Parts: sequence; structure tokens; C-alpha cells
Amino acid sequence: MPSGLILGIETSCDETAAAVVERGARTLSSVVASQIATHARYGGVVPELASREHLRAIVPVVRAALTEAGLSLSDLDAVAVTSGPGLAGALLVGITYAKALAFANNLPLIAVNHLEGHIHAVLLQERESERDSAQSAPVSSDAQSLAAARSERTSQEKHEVSGHDFSRAADASKKSGALAPEGIPNAESALALVVSGGHTHLFLAQPTNGVWTYTLIGRTVDDAAGEAFDKVAKLLGLDYPGGPWIDALAKFGNPNAVPFSFAQIKTKAHLGGKPARTKAAKTAPIARLDPHFLFSFSGIKTAVLRYVELHGLRDQAKARLNHLFPVAPSFSESASSDSERVGDRGLRPAPHPPQSREEALALCPQPTLDLIASFQRAVIGDLMKKTFAAAESQHVRRILVTGGVAANSELRTRFTAEAARRGLHVAFPTLALSTDNAAMIAAAAWPRFLAHDFAQPDLTADPSLALG
Ligand code: KG4
Ligand code: ZN
Repeated sequence: MPSGLILGIETSCDETAAAVVERGARTLSSVVASQIATHARYGGVVPELASREHLRAIVPVVRAALTEAGLSLSDLDAVAVTSGPGLAGALLVGITYAKALAFANNLPLIAVNHLEGHIHAVLLQERESERDSAQSAPVSSDAQSLAAARSERTSQEKHEVSGHDFSRAADASKKSGALAPEGIPNAESALALVVSGGHTHLFLAQPTNGVWTYTLIGRTVDDAAGEAFDKVAKLLGLDYPGGPWIDALAKFGNPNAVPFSFAQIKTKAHLGGKPARTKAAKTAPIARLDPHFLFSFSGIKTAVLRYVELHGLRDQAKARLNHLFPVAPSFSESASSDSERVGDRGLRPAPHPPQSREEALALCPQPTLDLIASFQRAVIGDLMKKTFAAAESQHVRRILVTGGVAANSELRTRFTAEAARRGLHVAFPTLALSTDNAAMIAAAAWPRFLAHDFAQPDLTADPSLALG
């Protein structure tokens, strides 16, 4: 029986990530090099810069993941890599490196769909919690340090990368000698909402003998929910990515102040039968989906824009941007600071927006805070309405919410309360596992490893790879 050690590699967008996960159930290391600092000044991800940054970071990030796990390449059983969907050039960096590693070390290569990875982030989290609680009595000092390091890791979200504490966590995990589950636990069908900067998709996820299959139930016909958070934040003079800013500032506004109705989030059911007009719409057969489970977030973004113009909030937004982000480094300056970061293993944490929350709050007059809170309330309300309706239509009692937007605090609170009201189970990944990471890719690869579902040597990037 192999030890089940899988190295996961993720480069689909703006995070270079590598992780080692044992049997899809125990994270030995998880390293994320964020490119946020590079893309922030452009207000979004610039594909060419993303590829360049991945090229710079991939080798040190993989090395760091192995070091933190206390392993060498010869200890591994497989290499898993995200093959799509995502940015073509960015995906290619990870795929090419993963192929080279697999070939040179005679390891099987496993291709993982990024969306499946997000779903497995929740399953991994559940397995780790199950194992932790099984180990919790009596609590050894090793287990205690593992738990402490884990909670520390969670609270710092993804930008923290590998300090000594994390290395200790991996050591403690190995020393504790706990056997990882053999198969795939938490084997009950679930309705999964994958909600991130690139996706807002509903899947029915069904396990059969440890192998998961997915059926697409709903999706966005235009912008993803995270994209709407990012665009609205940009409109209001806040930094990229906008989700954490909106999340932090919404707490200070009145969510009922601006009546965004769900009618503004159009389902565009009329798209059925007509050629798709947006990139997102082209990647799945929207016409065959129940319009009740289609999302559209471009309408609310436009409504926010109109509100900003109508209420004269635009100049304030510009002033806020200049105040909060006065230094707009030139391209050459940024390149040299990036080189320094690479010299320092490319892993220095990116600035974390909520650190400037107090400052941003002071610069947001009440009408802006009310607008932010109302926007967030409306988007989450729409996500909830369609997700719970889809769960009901699929007769499942379990909901998984994952992807970057699943880090949102109001989303977590409201989904949890509504699930309790309906007698359903809802689960989220930790904050660190919500946004892009490679532990979720290594975890998703485990059932494929067991099924000998290996990628061919001609594996290439599929930017619009569908799931379900
Ligand atoms: O999953 P992810 O890291 O990358 C993609 O696959 O897209 O998600 C990034 C997205 C961004 O749009 C970001 O604004 C959003 O997740 N996000 C949030 C929060 N944290 C990240 N949105 C709302 N609230 C948050 N706390
Ligand atoms: Zn993602």
C-alpha cells in the first residue's frame, strides 16, 4: 500500500501554490505565493504578468512545500496539477513543471479540475477536523502543537507562507503517528457552490465507492460573484482584490439602505438557444440549465455604478484611492522589488487589505458604507436563495460552499443560520483553503490516484475545462 503522499501544484490564476497532502486527508504542507501585490495596481489580474510570476515562483514554492513536509521527491507517490480552467499561460507553467517532476522521478501525473479542487478543499477540511476530533482525547503535546499551529495558519489566511510554526505543524503531524483514513470519508452527496473571482457554479457532487462525479446545476451567465466584489470595490476606490475590503467595511453600513432587488440580478433565461455573448457563458451549456439556478452579477455592478454617479460618490472614491494607495510603483520599480522577493524565496506575504481597514473606514462616509453593506447583502441573498433552492431540488441535505468568496464573513453567518433553520448541513473550508491553494488539488487527486486515473504525457492546459 503506498503511503499516499501527493504533491499538488496550482497555478491557474494569480497564486503559485504547492502542497503535500497524505491520502486526501492530512495536509503536511501548503505554500502559497500570492501575486496580489503585482496585480493590485492594475485593478485585476494581468495574464502575462501572472505567467511571469509563476515562472519565478514555481521552483522555490515547490521546494518550500517539500521542505515543510520534511519530504524529498523520492517519498512522493504522485504529482497532481491543475489542468484548467484558468489562464492558459499560467496553467502551462504548473503543468510543464509538474510533468517534468513526474517524468524525472518516475511518478504518476494526475490532472485536476480547479473547480473540483475547490470542492475538495471542504472535504479535506472535514477529514482533517474528523481526524483532529478523533485524536483529541487524550491530547498529546504533539497534537496540541499541531492544533495550535493549524489554527494559527487558518487565522492568517493564505498570505502567510511557511514560518517555523508551520514546519513544526508538519513535524507534529507526522510524529503523532495518526493513521490517515484509508478511503474517502464524508461520502454523502452534496450541493456544492463554488464561488470565486472566476466562477459561480452549483454542482451536485456524488461519491460512488470513493469516486466523485459532478453534475452542473447552475452557474453565472456573466460575471462571477467575486468579480462583482472586485469591480464594486474598484469603483469605490478600494484595492484589488475587493472582496476582503467589502467584507470588512460592510459591517459598518446599513444593509437595507439601498434596495438592490434580485430582479436586478437577471437570470437571462432568454439566453437559451441563442449564441452566448460572454466568455463565461461560452464555457457551459447554459440553455440546458434550470434558469432558477442561473446567476448574473453584471446587473448589480451597473446598479452600483449608477448609484455612485447619481449620489456624487465618484470624486470621494478617487480621493480615497489616492489616499489609501498613494504609491503606484512604475513597472520597473515593481520588477526590482519582485526580484528581491524571489531572492527571499519569492514568498514574502503580500499586503493584506484588512490591515488598513481602520484607515479605509475613516475615509468612507456613511452613504458609501451603506452602499457597500447593501451590495454585499444583496449578492449573498441571491447566492443563498439559489443554492438552497438547488439543494431542495436535488434532494440533498448537505451543502458545501467554497472558493474565495466563501471567505466572506456575512456569507458564512447567513448560510449557517439558514441551513440550521432548514435542518441542513453546511460546510466551508478554512479561510486559507477558501482561496486558491494547492492542498485542495492534492486532496482532489487522491480518489483519482486510487482509481489509477493518471494523465497522459501530452496533458496540456485547458483554459475552459468544464466540470460536470
Ligand atoms: O478562489 P479565489 O482565490 O480565486 C479564483 O479562483 O478566482 O477567489 C478570489 C476571489 C476574489 O474575487 C476576491 O475578491 C474574493 O475571492 N474574496 C472575497 C473575500 N475574500 C476573497 N469575496 C468576498 N469576501 C471575502 N472575504
Ligand atoms: Zn479558485
